Amino acid sequence: MPAHLTARRSPALAGRMRAPGDKSISHRALILGAMATGVTDIEGLLEGDDILATARAVEAFGATVERLGEGRWRVTGQGGFQQPAGTIDCGNAGTGVRLLMGAAAGYPITVTFDGDASLRKRPMKRVTGPLADMGARFDWQGVEDRLPVAVAGGDLSAIDYVQTVASAQIKSAILLAGINADGVTTVAEAEPSRDHTERMLRAFGVEVGVLPIDGGWRVSLKGGQTLTGTAVAVPGDPSSAAFPLAAGLIVPGSEVTVQGVMLNPLRTGLFETWREMGADLTVSNRRMAGGEEIGDVSARHSKLKGVIVPPDRAASMIDEYPVLAATAAFADGATVMRGIGEMRVKESDRIALMAMGLTSCGVRVEEEPTGFTVFGGSVRGGAAVPTHGDHRIAMSHLVLGLAAVEAVTVDEPGMIATSFPGFVELMRGLGAEIAWGER
Ligand code: S3P
Repeated sequence: MPAHLTARRSPALAGRMRAPGDKSISHRALILGAMATGVTDIEGLLEGDDILATARAVEAFGATVERLGEGRWRVTGQGGFQQPAGTIDCGNAGTGVRLLMGAAAGYPITVTFDGDASLRKRPMKRVTGPLADMGARFDWQGVEDRLPVAVAGGDLSAIDYVQTVASAQIKSAILLAGINADGVTTVAEAEPSRDHTERMLRAFGVEVGVLPIDGGWRVSLKGGQTLTGTAVAVPGDPSSAAFPLAAGLIVPGSEVTVQGVMLNPLRTGLFETWREMGADLTVSNRRMAGGEEIGDVSARHSKLKGVIVPPDRAASMIDEYPVLAATAAFADGATVMRGIGEMRVKESDRIALMAMGLTSCGVRVEEEPTGFTVFGGSVRGGAAVPTHGDHRIAMSHLVLGLAAVEAVTVDEPGMIATSFPGFVELMRGLGAEIAWGER
């Protein structure tokens, strides 16, 4: 595969495409399927590299995993995780490793988790800390707080955990461990994070309580419950749909529709923000799929204006700030994004990389410790942008390049397949001029 992808100014984009399966829900379907007894049939599974790593992991934990057709997977669980033979390599996937660690902590097994160079740089104590409080033992193999780490699980006690960062990964790891802990585990969040684990646990027959607390909620579950295999229909990923929709908004004359996009309000902060910026964004054909509301989202080229994004919206669009920043570059005025320090510990330091990439494309950006401001206007482009192997940094700059004056090139294009396999072909199908190779 060539080492670069280049996007150039494109004629009006037009067409409809199906959103790839949601990454968060795909990880959870495989993991819960492996914790359950019996068969879990999954439709619309995202076949991205992150998810394939989780599929291999749950197989190593003793589940039988079969691919029945495109996006159709069957997991036959043994009612728990067995001792795996070797190290569990989660590749690039933060969600994969953190949720698997939580689940594995509940069983009497010892397992070493590892990942790629990017995942090895990401903090793990946010999850191992509470899991250790529940009784799991962790042995850092190299540097503390970083992979690889060995986990010895089993014999857990419930905890009451109060989140200091709104993180669905931390909440989910604790809840999955709580399934096999003695007592009632609770996780309190002042700002609600995505609730896919809670919803899916219920679908697998687990009782999960939710009580409102000021501004947020407290989620609870009693240990000792069992999961029963079920059917899971994976809705389209709003975080992936964001890229073709962004292109529709910024390329003059465009109209792009992404079908089957999940509309869970804990995931749609970007759509709300775009509307406030003046985006012509409409949703049709609202329906239910897999316990979630989905719809077809259409974006038409729009004259955007800068906005101040409310910091308390961060959890509902934390993965979407890079693509928001790319569209903000074409808006009139400043778009202020604050309260998003978490962006610095994603697949890359996304605040730093977006600031660097946009600046090299001629966009004025002011970077702050926990936020950044993009001053929109005309976008020169004409840069080769380093992505540090971050799929969303790559796709955000490619979208930017479709409406910039000069072409934009990104490196490490192979990483796009972690979350959005087929991105280039689908975008080309809409008329986007994206090509392999140098500018
Ligand atoms: C995810 C939660 C978010 C998000 C990640 C997926 C999940 O991370 O950034 O891409 O599936 O639970 P945090 O919960 O750490 O914010």
